[in-house]
Amino acid sequence: MRILSGIQPSGTIHIGNYFGMVKKMIESQNDGELFAFIASYHALTSVKDKEFLEKNSYEAAINFLALGMDPEKSTFWIQHDVKEVLELYWILSNHTSMGLLERAHSYKDKTARGLVASHGLFSYPVLMAADILLFDSNIVPVGKDQIQHVEMTRDIATSFNHAYKKEILTLPVAKVDEEVATVLGTDGAKMSKSYNNTIDMFTTSKQRKKQVMSIVTDSKELDEPKEWENCNIYNISKLFMNEDELKDLQKRYITPGEGYGHFKLTLLEKIEQYFKPYEEKREYFAANPKKVREILEFGAQKARKIASEKIKEIRDIVGLI
Ligand code: ADP
Ligand code: TRP
Repeated sequence: MRILSGIQPSGTIHIGNYFGMVKKMIESQNDGELFAFIASYHALTSVKDKEFLEKNSYEAAINFLALGMDPEKSTFWIQHDVKEVLELYWILSNHTSMGLLERAHSYKDKTARGLVASHGLFSYPVLMAADILLFDSNIVPVGKDQIQHVEMTRDIATSFNHAYKKEILTLPVAKVDEEVATVLGTDGAKMSKSYNNTIDMFTTSKQRKKQVMSIVTDSKELDEPKEWENCNIYNISKLFMNEDELKDLQKRYITPGEGYGHFKLTLLEKIEQYFKPYEEKREYFAANPKKVREILEFGAQKARKIASEKIKEIRDIVGLI
């Protein structure tokens, strides 16, 4: 079973990204053959800044490696190292109706938010279909916003298979993890870099302390009992504490004498403990850019081997001899 996932190269990663997506992806290395790539071509639809794209792509690579992406076990590469995807993108474009693309929610949302309505942005679901179909992916783990793109991929593959009367492209299935609740931010809204309410994973102690201390609470005093249900500190603590630790925290909430500042410091300490081993690994990769480049190249070689065979088969079928 092949699992494939593309990751947008956003530089900073917050605990919402981690518990919502990254952790699951790393764990999926035990469920099947994982193919994961940094979606650098996709990023061009919104990023028009060389330094920004380079830096963020690199950061994405070291974050994933630090968090447990295993380049031996899985295939991990950066999208633009495997150019076969662009050829498939063009071939598939001719099996994609305008109507299908016009119905894409993400295009409508992104242009409504001010992104330039470029051809790249409009045709991006076809590139995503090429990413998926080039590797005969069976399972594509995605967030809710990406389900439609996997469905479009199935439509495109069906239309292609029908045109050439052969089941040459494998129809993928989107896997949405209903279990993963939305992680809430320091203000109680969905944690998102756009809302400035994040607790970042890899950051300075000073910045992390600032983020944790900024968690919004009510204004109960030290000598008043407090409610842990719906408290933003408690909600975030649930991600880092076991049941006994949470029971203990509940007791501290209802017993007068401590304030929210104390609970925040306990949470801060737990977060630091949790990410410490990853931070050390990340520092190693951050100090060895050559090693990171080698790992990505090694992944690209593995990916290219599969991609070049598949594209050859497809060229053959369509008459590109
Ligand atoms: P952001 O909203 O900060 O820009 P992205 O849109 O880049 O985050 O999300 C990257 C991945 O992390 C997606 O798979 C998304 O589903 C997941 N994710 C982002 N924020 C959260 C959150 N608050 N809770 C759970 N998952 C999240
Ligand atoms: N479009 C996805 C996102 O914005 C990233 C992505 C690109 C992807 N290609 C993919 C995800 C292929 C899964 C499979 O998050």
